[in-house]
Amino acid sequence: MQKTAVLTLALVLNAGLLGAQAHAAGDAEAGATLFKRICGGCHQVGESARGSFGPQLNGIFGRPSGSTTDYQYSDAMKSAGIVWTRETLTAYLEDPKEVVPGTRMIFWGLSDPEKIDNLLAYLQTFQPQ
Ligand code: HEC
Repeated sequence: MQKTAVLTLALVLNAGLLGAQAHAAGDAEAGATLFKRICGGCHQVGESARGSFGPQLNGIFGRPSGSTTDYQYSDAMKSAGIVWTRETLTAYLEDPKEVVPGTRMIFWGLSDPEKIDNLLAYLQTFQPQ
């Protein structure tokens, strides 16, 4: 069951990334497309964002891990003691289980630094001003 979901996501991912390649690194617009395709099934951002399958990701830069109040984190995430920064987010997106062993986030990891840059540029647009 889980395997099927991951496979489906991987296929969707492959289809989506071809379109994003035309953009330069750190492109928030490309990041938005990518986010919808590969994170949006589990995470929400924006004004009405709330915890769903995963926690909402508004104001993620500088946010301590496991700290939103409307989401039930895994024990692993609750006790991870990470502050999300460009560096920790990059490492987590490359390999969630390496950074937070036992995390409930089922994600194969992103190996392309440009895609991570684009995603982070997009998430940056949800920081409080
Ligand atoms: C299959 C669902 C799923 C996908 C896809 C997914 N996540 Fe997650 N994510 C989760 C879950 C569930 C958690 C909570 C993990 C825990 O409690 O161990 C989480 C946690 C996180 C956290 C930590 C948040 C906090 O409050 O500490 C970040 C950051 C994050 N995800 C970013 C992303 C990004 C960016 C993407 C897309 C590249 C993504 N995730 C894709 C399910 C997912």
